[in-house]
Amino acid sequence: MNRFENKIALVTGSTQGIGAACAVRLASEGADIILNGRKFDERAEGLISQITAMGRRATFVAADVSATQNVVNLVNDAIKVYGSIDILVNNAGVEKNHNFLDVTEDEYDFVMDTNLKGIFFGIQAFVKYCVSYNKPGVVVNMSSVHEEIIFPHFAAYCASKGGLKMLTRNLATELAPFNVRINNVAPGAISTPINHALIENAELLEKVLKNIPMKKLGKPEDVAAVVAFLASADAEYVTGSTYFVDGGLTYHYEEQ
Ligand SMILES: NC(=O)c1ccc[n+]([C@@H]2O[C@H](COP(=O)([O-])OP(=O)(O)OC[C@H]3O[C@@H](n4cnc5c(N)ncnc54)[C@H](O)[C@@H]3O)[C@@H](O)[C@H]2O)c1
Repeated sequence: MNRFENKIALVTGSTQGIGAACAVRLASEGADIILNGRKFDERAEGLISQITAMGRRATFVAADVSATQNVVNLVNDAIKVYGSIDILVNNAGVEKNHNFLDVTEDEYDFVMDTNLKGIFFGIQAFVKYCVSYNKPGVVVNMSSVHEEIIFPHFAAYCASKGGLKMLTRNLATELAPFNVRINNVAPGAISTPINHALIENAELLEKVLKNIPMKKLGKPEDVAAVVAFLASADAEYVTGSTYFVDGGLTYHYEEQ
């Protein structure tokens, strides 16, 4: 199935985890890919080889998306690589675990600048491009179940993803006249390096799995499949939504 023939996608934070899976999935369905991370490394090199071997083009553009000018430059540089961008996947994200009373301003900024501010201005740069060339666009934001459910000791993370929920709801209306769709994907517990501590800690993992009706962690590929749906024409009437990929975590209820 080539849902992304002649389409070009920029995926932020795509050298590992969910972002890498999104890049590979979109390429497997025909997209050319702009990979991104803070700096080029062997993971980026490996992904470029993998995507090229699939018959698609892939280029890495380095940028720290937590700074506004960097993310604006990233979008504009990415457009220059293959002459266009059709799909923006805002995947890069960070989390910091701290008791609320101990959170420093730097820690707050680290989370909010990456997970919300960078995304805000990245979308703005992308939509300015779409509007000036009168072309449609698709945005998929990597949110989290924590745009909806609480996570004690991760207040800044929850605030950033909660903000992303409202950003998407708001922009769906504001950008519809420009033919730009925008949706969130909200992963639950996915097996990626961001969850290293959880995966290594059997006791904690057991507690987490108790809250997941499907009793297993998700895979990056599970998330990428939903991103691909939302980025594709199959979702042409879908905007302003959040799709949960969480094994039932968010709305589970059990009497025990
Ligand atoms: N893994 C999960 O269980 C889970 C659950 C919910 C939401 N998410 C979200 O999914 C997204 C991806 O998470 P993941 O699990 O793959 O994490 P990860 O840590 O494995 O990957 C995140 C990637 O983003 C990159 N990145 C971080 N900050 C960046 C910056 N400022 N500029 C450029 N690149 C940057 C990292 O280098 C890394 O490659 C994040 O937004 C995260 O909040 C993950």
